[in-house]
Amino acid sequence: MPSRSSAIALLAAMAASAASALAASTNTNTNTTKPPAFFLAGDSMTAIQSTDGGGYGNGFLSFLRAPAWGLNLGHDGATTVSFVQGGDWANLLSNVTAAAADGYQPFVTIMV
Ligand SMILES: *[C@@H]1O[C@H](CO)[C@@H](O)[C@H](O)[C@H]1NC(C)=O
Ligand SMILES: *[C@@H]1O[C@H](CO)[C@@H](O)[C@H](O)[C@H]1NC(C)=O
Repeated sequence: MPSRSSAIALLAAMAASAASALAASTNTNTNTTKPPAFFLAGDSMTAIQSTDGGGYGNGFLSFLRAPAWGLNLGHDGATTVSFVQGGDWANLLSNVTAAAADGYQPFVTIMV
């Protein structure tokens, strides 16, 4: 199990990579009317409700009105490390890039 400080360092690196992807997607565009696209990372606090857990993610997304949209990418039992090593983080960044290219303003939440 990784130490708390290495998990925090990884979380900081993830926040930096999300900020970088988000900044790259927004810095040259002054159109502030883009609809938002939310990408939710996390563990059972975020995940889709199931017999094993589940959290706020889909409840939050249910309040979005089209064309705003979002994806709940949370997993029960996920850790910062498993989220990165299992490819979920790369998938999230790929979604951020694609949403920005499609004219959305991406937002990333991380709840663990
Ligand atoms: C701003 O972006 C939205 C969503 O992509 C688009 O519908 C709107 O026409 C754009 N406005 C301008 C002034 O480019
Ligand atoms: C976005 O995430 C979904 C759900 O994991 C995945 O199926 C899809 O391939 C991803 N899209 C992109 C553009 O990465």
